[in-house]
Amino acid sequence: MIRMDEKTQYQTTNILNARMNFYHFFHGPRVFEKVREYLCGFEGMEVFDIGCGNGKMVFEALKEFSSVRYFGIDRSQAMIEETKQRCPYSDSEFMATDIYSFATERMFDRIFLCHVLHLLDKKEAILTFVKKHLKKQGRCVITLHSKDDAPKKRDWIQWFKNQYQKTYQNNHGNVTIETWPSLFGTKFEPVVAECVRGNIQLSEASPYLAYLETERHRFHPDPTEEEWNAFLLYVQNEIESSIKEQGFFDEEQRYGVLVLENAS
Ligand SMILES: C[S@@+](CC[C@H](N)C(=O)[O-])C[C@H]1O[C@@H](n2cnc3c(N)ncnc32)[C@H](O)[C@@H]1O
Repeated sequence: MIRMDEKTQYQTTNILNARMNFYHFFHGPRVFEKVREYLCGFEGMEVFDIGCGNGKMVFEALKEFSSVRYFGIDRSQAMIEETKQRCPYSDSEFMATDIYSFATERMFDRIFLCHVLHLLDKKEAILTFVKKHLKKQGRCVITLHSKDDAPKKRDWIQWFKNQYQKTYQNNHGNVTIETWPSLFGTKFEPVVAECVRGNIQLSEASPYLAYLETERHRFHPDPTEEEWNAFLLYVQNEIESSIKEQGFFDEEQRYGVLVLENAS
């Protein structure tokens, strides 16, 4: 019998693999280009990555630098282990901790909040914390899912809802690039607030279907096997007919990229 913690870890790893396979091109070059353009990075800078996940996003954005001092925190120990494996910098630190219970005296040149702010309830408190730990002229890079994220997935979910009168729980909140001025007030000097598009193209359905499996827990009440299989079949047909018609299935993702400078 699998013990609970092993089971959780197993599920987490599966989810990550499925997401990583599907989103291989998802964090497309356009996003990183934008982040790099406004990062104004330099060798030796101290970088703090809050909710680092597996670090993929930030390491890609930093790839032109060889001597960054990286510090990543995430409340998930499994994520921290992945980040350690992936991190290219020898002078690095990692900590599995919740941002709300984390305290430090350190100051940083760059702080990242990549695809994480929407998950945090106390957004003002987090940004006050960020401001406190940014050196003068330090920059905070925030990326967010746009509210127009995953349009095709939403169509499919609508189909599912119509068929089975079930709900789909989206716990991502509604922090989007459109709402940033009221969120950040005048605490920071905005350098840029921009919506960036990234495309993925698939030549087969399986990565997307595997990814959707990881979203199954969001459907309430739980779909039966029959309902879920019908859903997957519907999606598969949609993807395959697109591949047949145009040679690929494509999906556009949109991100908000915000860069704020600590002017004071
Ligand atoms: C969507 S992932 C983004 C990961 C990474 N920054 C990226 O862009 O690929 C969000 C991450 O935030 C972490 N997270 C969520 N709430 C957190 C909290 N209160 N304290 C620390 N980490 C948190 C999650 O564990 C997860 O790894």
